[in-house]
Amino acid sequence: MLQGKHIILGITGSIAAYKAAMLCRLLVKEGAEVRVIMTPLAKQFITPLTMATLSKHPILVEFFNPENGEWNSHVSLGEWADMLLIAPATANTLAKMTTGIADNLLLTTYLSARSKVAVAPAMDLDMYAHITTQQNLATLAERGVAIIEPAAGELASGLVGKGRMAEPEEIVEQVKAIFAEQQRAKSLSGKRYIVTAGATIEPIDPVRYITNHSTGKMGYAIAEELAKRGAEVKLISGRTSLATPAGVERIDVLSAEDMYNAAVVEWQEADGGVMCAAVADYTPKSVADKKLKKSDDDMSIELVRTKDIARSLGEQKGERVLVGFALETDNESANAEGKLKRKNFDFVVLNSLRDEGAGFRGDTNKVTILDAQSAVEHPLMSKSEVATIIVDKIESLNK
Ligand code: C5P
Repeated sequence: MLQGKHIILGITGSIAAYKAAMLCRLLVKEGAEVRVIMTPLAKQFITPLTMATLSKHPILVEFFNPENGEWNSHVSLGEWADMLLIAPATANTLAKMTTGIADNLLLTTYLSARSKVAVAPAMDLDMYAHITTQQNLATLAERGVAIIEPAAGELASGLVGKGRMAEPEEIVEQVKAIFAEQQRAKSLSGKRYIVTAGATIEPIDPVRYITNHSTGKMGYAIAEELAKRGAEVKLISGRTSLATPAGVERIDVLSAEDMYNAAVVEWQEADGGVMCAAVADYTPKSVADKKLKKSDDDMSIELVRTKDIARSLGEQKGERVLVGFALETDNESANAEGKLKRKNFDFVVLNSLRDEGAGFRGDTNKVTILDAQSAVEHPLMSKSEVATIIVDKIESLNK
């Protein structure tokens, strides 16, 4: 995973600098090429000789070598790096990174780096909890810096709390995860998808309507995951309180009819579709133009069938990928298999309301993924994890 990756390991003046030696060794062992930049104070905590030996390169501290005037170019270092990893990162360095102070080689390199930047904070618990540090971390995270959270435990001061730098093994795992995410980020560029999500609303009169419990969370998570991988995503959404995911174009609709009309248009240009919406199967035959008045008698509303969006798209699917959902309360597998065939889906994501944590509203889901060959049952996981699995499968079918 880290083979051939260029990593600048920045070390700042914290007692946790001793862990940077192990971290450097693990990164090199994983195949990364590591260059170490230390702040002047970091040299008090770990020797340049140790770090030079482990990284197999001289370490860098000053802007130039005082012996011969050779310039340590922060610009070319910044260009060379695939990642700038500052571990340990002190409160002081984090504050300087936030404000743009550039009074040592590590900070000038940070400002020049075009690569991903990750920091592993290390400090005393009160310094870590201080509003200033927390705001600085929040600002850096907003700007795209990955924060490798410190752990809780015994600190150099003798106090116990959150502030210990994450262990080297944990940092290496997170570094790998960052590279994996970057790799995935481009895997669907140039592809176009439509996603339907949320509940439709079928009006009865100007005041009342028929709807269901869908919140749209699953569909929004899928749209987000597709966009993260570089796809162009049109999210055809029923009413929801969710924010539009970054990089996604949202088309708001109300009724099943509106959703159908938007979907058939967008399907023409799409490479695939995920039918996640909970579409009403019936709609009032006519919508009263005035509020219906109550009387002492019972009332009945005549309902007519809506159009099946998924089925219509499935009929003109061609080589494209079409994914459906099945939310069942009983006879789950048989019903899902029926949908797979009837609607010409490549695969169906089945969730059962009998499973705790699955279905509407929550942030988790428990799904079985069913295609013509197999049915794979997954454990309970977050909706964004389910989205990753679904998009992985879409990707494997699209190639
Ligand atoms: O038939 P059923 O509603 O259970 O099928 C569920 C699947 O079909 C889901 O993927 C859902 O989004 C889609 N569907 C649709 N249009 C409808 C009804 C369902 O796209 N009118």
